[in-house]
Amino acid sequence: MPGPFAKSRHPARDLAALETLAVEVLFGPAAAEKFSSGKLPNSLLSPYADALKKLSQNYVAPRTRSLKEISAKIEAEAYALYFLPINFAKFDFLLRQAELEISFIRSVLDLGCGPGTATMAGLAAGLSGAVVCAVDHSRQMREIAAKLLPHWNTTGNEIQITESVPRNRHFDLIMAGNVLGELSLDEQFSQLMSLASSLGEGGILIVLEPALMANTRNLMHLRDLILRSDTQLCPLFPCTRKDDCPMYSQSTNEWCHGALRWKEPSLVKQLDHLTGFNKHRIKYSALILCRGGSLKSGYRVVAPPKKSKRGRTLRLCGPGYYGERVLAGKDRTASNKPFERAQLYDRIQIEIVSEESDGSELEAAIGAECLVRLEED
Ligand SMILES: C[S@@+](CC[C@H](N)C(=O)[O-])C[C@H]1O[C@@H](n2cnc3c(N)ncnc32)[C@H](O)[C@@H]1O
Repeated sequence: MPGPFAKSRHPARDLAALETLAVEVLFGPAAAEKFSSGKLPNSLLSPYADALKKLSQNYVAPRTRSLKEISAKIEAEAYALYFLPINFAKFDFLLRQAELEISFIRSVLDLGCGPGTATMAGLAAGLSGAVVCAVDHSRQMREIAAKLLPHWNTTGNEIQITESVPRNRHFDLIMAGNVLGELSLDEQFSQLMSLASSLGEGGILIVLEPALMANTRNLMHLRDLILRSDTQLCPLFPCTRKDDCPMYSQSTNEWCHGALRWKEPSLVKQLDHLTGFNKHRIKYSALILCRGGSLKSGYRVVAPPKKSKRGRTLRLCGPGYYGERVLAGKDRTASNKPFERAQLYDRIQIEIVSEESDGSELEAAIGAECLVRLEED
């Protein structure tokens, strides 16, 4: 989906540049030279693959704060080699979903910046004349961010790398990438409230979490709590409704998340090979909130579409409606083609005739207009 600043951008090229920069900063110019013409030696990457496996085990393990803090240098470096491009691609995508006027953004907070992931995505998106606070309480991470960021086109922006969030500041854009899950549940809510209260009018908060059921359901729950507590906040993504999340309340094991198709950059591919991971598609859980603003229209497809004898079924979530709609083969028309084509997390316009119906009388009423196609086939 082309966003306001997507047209002139080349995500694949940015990813290649990002990987080359990480290699150069961590291993030196000779390794970067070698990398630009092929792979790095597996023997060089093996210790990082081991560190990634350890990190990954920690992320899926039950919450134990001490385990999750990145304190070893090799883990921080491994994170920069592998998760930096992956999460950069997710932020690149989320920034486009936020549809912000990048030229008006003057103050940015990147909480739990790690190697500088969200900051780099913001810079690639065209931040200009902004003060960006990249905050991380891990010294190892701050050191890597300090090595990487000056080489990533920061022209015209001021980047501050700090251990804690500056007090009494308001931000136009706040990004919190994969950081909430490192906090206890109580801390997550107070952290989110504190971030939301630091948003200036019209400011946007992007929260990205690992696509794991526990993290995602937490985020769904936090969404409900924060929207109830702060009525000035408006969800921009993925929700097109402000009331409580029906998927959260109606199930105990469903989790609202998306997946991005991308051209896996070469270092991620090589590390996938060494670790046995697979980032062919990258899943994400995210929430974008705006202080003020208005809801997007339409209904989000919140489960993978199903095909059955009855027809094509989409699970939709939107204003006043959460449920499945079926398009029978006999009812297919040119105007409801977007319904046939819609994929997970697309946002479509559809006329919901009645909530009580079992769907049969509705099918003919489906005239779908695809508002946002997230990914090209
Ligand atoms: C998983 S990393 C995410 C890095 C980056 N945002 C990304 O998405 O690639 C989480 C980072 O958050 C940092 N962190 C966790 N809690 C924090 C807090 N309360 N304040 C600042 N940093 C925090 C950790 O040190 C770690 O570097």
